[in-house]
Amino acid sequence: VPCTKGLGMLEDYEKRFPGLLGFYSGLLGYYFAACPKECPEVAARMYDAFQSLGKDLEPALKEFQAEGLFSGRALSTRRQVELFWTSPLVTVFEAAVGYTPPPDVDLKRLLPEPVDSRMGLIRRRHQAAERVGSGELASGDLPYWQASMANCAPELYLWPYLPAEGLLCGFDLGSGWGRGVLCLGNFQRCEVTALDIQESQLDLLRRLAEGLGWLGLKTQVSTEPSFPDDSMDFGLSYAFLHLAEAEQLRSLLTKALQSLRTHAVFHIEFPTDSPMGLTMVSCLTIEQLLDLFHTTTVGDKLFQLVDFDPRIPDLFTFAVFRQGELPEGCRTGRGAHRFKPLAKRILIGDSTSRRRR
Ligand SMILES: C[S@@+](CC[C@H](N)C(=O)[O-])C[C@H]1O[C@@H](n2cnc3c(N)ncnc32)[C@H](O)[C@@H]1O
Repeated sequence: VPCTKGLGMLEDYEKRFPGLLGFYSGLLGYYFAACPKECPEVAARMYDAFQSLGKDLEPALKEFQAEGLFSGRALSTRRQVELFWTSPLVTVFEAAVGYTPPPDVDLKRLLPEPVDSRMGLIRRRHQAAERVGSGELASGDLPYWQASMANCAPELYLWPYLPAEGLLCGFDLGSGWGRGVLCLGNFQRCEVTALDIQESQLDLLRRLAEGLGWLGLKTQVSTEPSFPDDSMDFGLSYAFLHLAEAEQLRSLLTKALQSLRTHAVFHIEFPTDSPMGLTMVSCLTIEQLLDLFHTTTVGDKLFQLVDFDPRIPDLFTFAVFRQGELPEGCRTGRGAHRFKPLAKRILIGDSTSRRRR
C-alpha cells in the first residue's frame, strides 16, 4: 500500500461508513495537537491494523455507526464512552500511534527525570511537543506513551501535600497502562489500586510495575471507585475524567471524595476548553470544572483547589477539607481560587512531618 496520502488511504472505508475519516483525524488532532494531521506512517500502520482485525472489523464498524460515533458530534452518553474504550477500532488507533509501551520495556531508563519547578515542567512539555510536531511521533521514534509521560509531575502536584513518612494508600482512576501511577516514584511507600475498564491495560500495568520492582500495586477492572470511607491518602486520575459524561463525572467525584480522608489530595490531568472535544465534558472551561469540584460534598467533606498554574492549564490538585476549616465565602466562578493559598498553608503547615520530598 503506498503511504503517501495520509488518512486518505482509509477512503474505501469512508465510503461505506461516512464520518470514519473525520473520526480518526479528529482523534489524531485531539491527542496530538502538535502533530501534523497528515501522517502517512501513522495512516499506514492504522490501515494494516484495520486489516488485521479480519472478521471482527465489519461488526465493530457497524456498532460504531449505529451508536453515532462517526456522527462528528462529541460523545455524550455513557454507552458511547464505554463503547469507545472497549472497541477494537480504538485499539487499532492505539496500535498505530504507540499508545502503550511494549510489555518488556525497561521503564526505569525511560521514566522522566523529576523536575523541581513549574518552569522545568513547562520546558519538558515544550521539548516533547516539539519532537512530536517535527514528526517523531509519526516515524515511531517518539511513541505516544513516551511523549505523554513528559506531562506528568507528581513531584510538583502530589508529593508536596503528602506526609513525608509512612505508608500511603491511593487510587488511580482510569489508570490505563499506568502512565500516572508509574511516574509516582517513592513506590515502596505507596499502596495503590488502579482502576480501568480495560483488563488488557491493567495486565500490562501489572507487568510494568513488576519490572520496576513495585509490589504494592493492586488492579481492579471497574468503572467506579468503591473504597471504604476516609481510607485513602491520595487519588490520581490522568486523562480520564474528561472522558466521562456529565452525570458520570459528578458520580465519580462524589465516590472519590467519599473514600479520601480529610486533607487527602486528588491530583488530576484534565484538558479543558477543547475545541474538538471528544466528549461534552472535555469542552468545560476551567471555571466550570472548578465549580463542579467545589459544589461536590459528602457529609461535611468538600474539595478545595490547592494547586493550579494557568501556564499548565490541564493539571490540578484538590484537597479534602471539612466544612468550617475554610472561611465562609463563595468558592465558585472567580471565587474558586480565593482560598487556594490558605488551603495550601493548612496542608503543608499543619504538621512538622509535612514537607517537600
Ligand atoms: C486516555 S486513557 C488515560 C489512561 C492513563 N490514565 C493515562 O493517562 O495514560 C483513558 C482510560 O480510561 C479508561 N476508561 C474509559 N472509560 C472508563 C470507565 N467508564 N471506567 C473506567 N475506566 C475507563 C480507558 O480504558 C483508558 O484506559
